[in-house]
Amino acid sequence: MKALEKIGLVALRRIDPEHAHGLALAALNAGLGPRGGPVKSDRLRTQIAGLDLPNPVGLAAGFDKNATALHALAKTGFGFIEVGAATPRPQAGNPKPRLFRLAQDRAAINRFGFNNDGMDTIAGRLAKRPADRIIGLNLGANKDSTDKSADFATVLARCGPHVDFATVNVSSPNTEKLRDLQGKAALSALLSGVMDTRAGLARPIPIFLKIAPDLTENEIAEVAEVANASGIAAIIATNTTLGRIGLHGPHKDQAGGLSGQPLFEKSTRVLARLSTMTDLPLIGVGGVASAEQAYQKICAGASAVQLYTALVYGGLSLVDDIARGLDALLARDGFASVADAVGSGRADWL
Ligand code: FNR
Repeated sequence: MKALEKIGLVALRRIDPEHAHGLALAALNAGLGPRGGPVKSDRLRTQIAGLDLPNPVGLAAGFDKNATALHALAKTGFGFIEVGAATPRPQAGNPKPRLFRLAQDRAAINRFGFNNDGMDTIAGRLAKRPADRIIGLNLGANKDSTDKSADFATVLARCGPHVDFATVNVSSPNTEKLRDLQGKAALSALLSGVMDTRAGLARPIPIFLKIAPDLTENEIAEVAEVANASGIAAIIATNTTLGRIGLHGPHKDQAGGLSGQPLFEKSTRVLARLSTMTDLPLIGVGGVASAEQAYQKICAGASAVQLYTALVYGGLSLVDDIARGLDALLARDGFASVADAVGSGRADWL
């Protein structure tokens, strides 16, 4: 981490986390973030769902909810970027405070509830995106929607022409009844609507599905069954958890979804389990804060990884460290590519 970044992070940690995040985005847009571009190597270059990634380390949804920092993020080390969640209509989200740092646990709890500028404004920003990066959009549903399931297709129809992939997010814990859409019948109907909309796009992009880490073994199997039959291109495992495992500090009992270190093991186990039930490529998310952890997700069955919470503690230069470290770990273990390592350590997580 550079000295300036360190000072910035220490200062940001003294103020309200949501305000600090806004300032971090402003600093990034002012050119204060890393500017070296995606970390590249022959070993790191990989494909997922037909998308060519310079490296498999991606930005998870929620960091740039409104696609306001795309050009700055394109200069960071990420191999791909997911923005959003976007809902059809703009919405304010839950009352503040709604984001809490758990520094001792290297974790966060959020209950934002899909605060965002809405699909029209976000589509306008995506239309001016950098062309030479892989950029996807996380699709969400309005809180007061009478047909939440249809919202995903609505946002896809509006924003799909401007992105390289879109993620059906039925796993956020902060919108009432959203996670019920992970059930077999509801998910099947929802994905069928989304896939119909995708087919109508001039350039049908790959659709990803993002799942919760709190699913039971049977529920994971059902999701896999529906996903396999649906035509989606990949599954992202996982979103934040409602679980509270071994937390410390004053905010540990706040309501919302927990992310960061305490989620690493749980989300990696769901990922490994899921990888025994589907041949779809998987993207591993949850608690990745080091090259070793990115590598563990890949060995557990992920074709790529994403992160968010670790950036709060490590800054955006962490992305370069993770990608470069991953390259070194693959080389150490004799893997010529990311793809060669995928699932090589699955048994450790089952
Ligand atoms: C998120 N996450 C998230 N996920 C999603 O699919 N749509 C969203 O809008 C958001 N919003 C969001 C806000 C905040 C403040 C956080 C911390 C997280 C979940 C995120 O993409 C990721 O799945 C989890 O945070 C787990 O990864 P990390 O943070 O442990 O690396």
